[in-house]
Amino acid sequence: MSYRHLRVAPWQGDPETALMGPARGRGSPEVDAIRQGIDRLVRKGVTTVVTPALSHYEAEPFFQAGFTLHERLHLLAKNLSAPDSDPGTAPIHPPPDDLNISTARFWHRRRMLDVDRRAFQGFWQFDAVSLGEALNATPHYWARLAELDGKTVGYAITGRAGDRGYLQRLAVVPEAQGKGVGSTLVNDAIAWLRHRRASLALVNTQEINERAFDLYQRHGFVRQSEGLIVLRWST
Ligand SMILES: CC(C)(COP(=O)(O)OP(=O)(O)OC[C@H]1O[C@@H](n2cnc3c(N)ncnc32)[C@H](O)[C@@H]1OP(=O)(O)O)[C@@H](O)C(=O)NCCC(=O)NCCS
Repeated sequence: MSYRHLRVAPWQGDPETALMGPARGRGSPEVDAIRQGIDRLVRKGVTTVVTPALSHYEAEPFFQAGFTLHERLHLLAKNLSAPDSDPGTAPIHPPPDDLNISTARFWHRRRMLDVDRRAFQGFWQFDAVSLGEALNATPHYWARLAELDGKTVGYAITGRAGDRGYLQRLAVVPEAQGKGVGSTLVNDAIAWLRHRRASLALVNTQEINERAFDLYQRHGFVRQSEGLIVLRWST
């Protein structure tokens, strides 16, 4: 039995928590479908349901079905058609000399997950399922590893659907932060999107994540007036 117009997935390997969002390309789910989806999950022992980042329009039926606000996110956009004469608001540091950026392969997933766990706090950490979802969220993706002195210190996933680019994930381990690794990965993502003729790049970040917000602004991303929200439902 499938969840009508819904995408339902495990969450961080926790059997009591599930992710529920609108199914891709299926429009907005109806409130009843969301309620029925929750009932089915509860019968399987789920006590908490979280959504992915939703627009306010997408969130409406989830609110009506009993979800509450968990966190607000900024949505930022960068016009890639314009030349980068004014990339952002502050200088971007050059990458460290010994930084190596390369393609992340299937067998690098464990390393990506290790970086992710060290860079992100509990709720936002990826597990193997969410990493796979981020890679497959768009028809095309560009996954990159950053290495310093032979050690993996960061990774980035960028997706593309048509002329839209999405910076899906960016993470640098705490001890390598502030050295330009994140900036280099953002530049690398933008270069790939431009090469593939994307005209707009989008990224979202938690409102409280000032560091990431500043980084994207420095790279010429502009905050959009309407952000995104993550919702939560619990028994
Ligand atoms: C956000 C994040 C990816 C940034 O990565 P980073 O490698 O630290 O980024 P950079 O080093 O390029 O830039 C970050 C800062 O270092 C500074 N910096 C970069 N290179 C520098 C250098 N050579 N010398 C001094 N300062 C430098 C930058 O100016 C910037 O300044 P700030 O601390 O005032 O913000 C990283 O902090 C991270 O992984 N955070 C947790 C996960 C996360 O939030 N991911 C993004 C989610 S949307």
